[in-house]
Amino acid sequence: MSQSVMNVKEQKKWFDSLKNKLEQIYIPHKEPWKQSGFSGPEGRWVKCRKPIADCIEKSGTFLDIGCANGYLLECILKWTEERNLNIIPFGLDLSEKLVVLAKERLPEYKGNFFIGNAWEWNNPMRFDYVRTEIVYVPECLQKQYIERIISLYLKKNGILLVTEYRSRRDDINKPWIDKMLCDWGFNINKQVSGFYDNKELTRVWVLSKRQTI
Ligand SMILES: C[S@@+](CC[C@H](N)C(=O)[O-])C[C@H]1O[C@@H](n2cnc3c(N)ncnc32)[C@H](O)[C@@H]1O
Repeated sequence: MSQSVMNVKEQKKWFDSLKNKLEQIYIPHKEPWKQSGFSGPEGRWVKCRKPIADCIEKSGTFLDIGCANGYLLECILKWTEERNLNIIPFGLDLSEKLVVLAKERLPEYKGNFFIGNAWEWNNPMRFDYVRTEIVYVPECLQKQYIERIISLYLKKNGILLVTEYRSRRDDINKPWIDKMLCDWGFNINKQVSGFYDNKELTRVWVLSKRQTI
């Protein structure tokens, strides 16, 4: 399906197919990081996901868009507690089945998990931190998606953490999306990378609402 323009029916088909595909891949796994779509050992997960926690500098609310089974949120809580930060976790996911697993993983916060599509979700509140990837929407909607999150999901001084994840098989010459974010007019305040076996597998870009809009 061409992604240059998509009508609402085509968009629905795109999101339904993504949800069904990811549920089939994630849910059968036993290891919690694999149930969050990460293939590989736990040590690699830590190297590739801790850079997100490293971008959190103050206590507050944190929304993980695409929270899957909630394991990233569980890790973010642990990694930020080590620095005496108090993070209140929130999660949003397309998949009802994954949200059930996330609520079981973090029962204390079960009221903070939502089933919904970030492209059209009516957020009940604004957040200090929001994490997302641009691949959660079709290419033709990606710029608008980032604009939408910054203007509707973030508090006045809120921070958006845009992440890009790579597998070890990916071509190292493939451009990261930061150039595209800059071409779209977003100001990147900071970039943090995650390495494993000397290969850069994660980039996190810190975008602040104040400087961007
Ligand atoms: C790779 S997992 C991310 C897990 C974890 N948050 C992390 O960063 O490692 C991607 C998750 O995003 C969810 N997702 C994809 N598109 C979405 C959308 N438009 N709205 C909400 N959730 C979405 C998928 O269902 C899947 O559970």
